[in-house]
Amino acid sequence: MKWLEEYNIGIEDIDSQHRQLADTLTRLKQSFSKEEEAVKTLKFLVRYTELHFSTEEAFMQSIDYPDYKTHKQQHEKLTNDVKKIILKLQKEKRIDPSYLIKFVSNWLKHHILEEDRKIGTFHRGE
Ligand SMILES: [Fe+2]
Repeated sequence: MKWLEEYNIGIEDIDSQHRQLADTLTRLKQSFSKEEEAVKTLKFLVRYTELHFSTEEAFMQSIDYPDYKTHKQQHEKLTNDVKKIILKLQKEKRIDPSYLIKFVSNWLKHHILEEDRKIGTFHRGE
């Protein structure tokens, strides 16, 4: 996933994790012809997403973010959707994760621009 300047929300830890997620999605896209590497990258993506969500949720709590609950629910929904897609891929023995990459990339772009951005705005007291 190509990183755009507008994805930065102004909180360094969160921005660098978002960039790492975008890079991982790019790596996954490049690696899906090599099965072993694709599986490894996919596992990393899942683990890193979990780590990122807990970082972001802890940060929201630390600043008493008013929309914490709704935001956390969106993270949970994505986690569940991704699990379902992976199970389906495994069941169908499909190696091609292009649908998953597209799904997560689109989610991430919208989520950063619409939801995560509000955390930065709130934090700066704007
Ligand atoms: Fe978020």
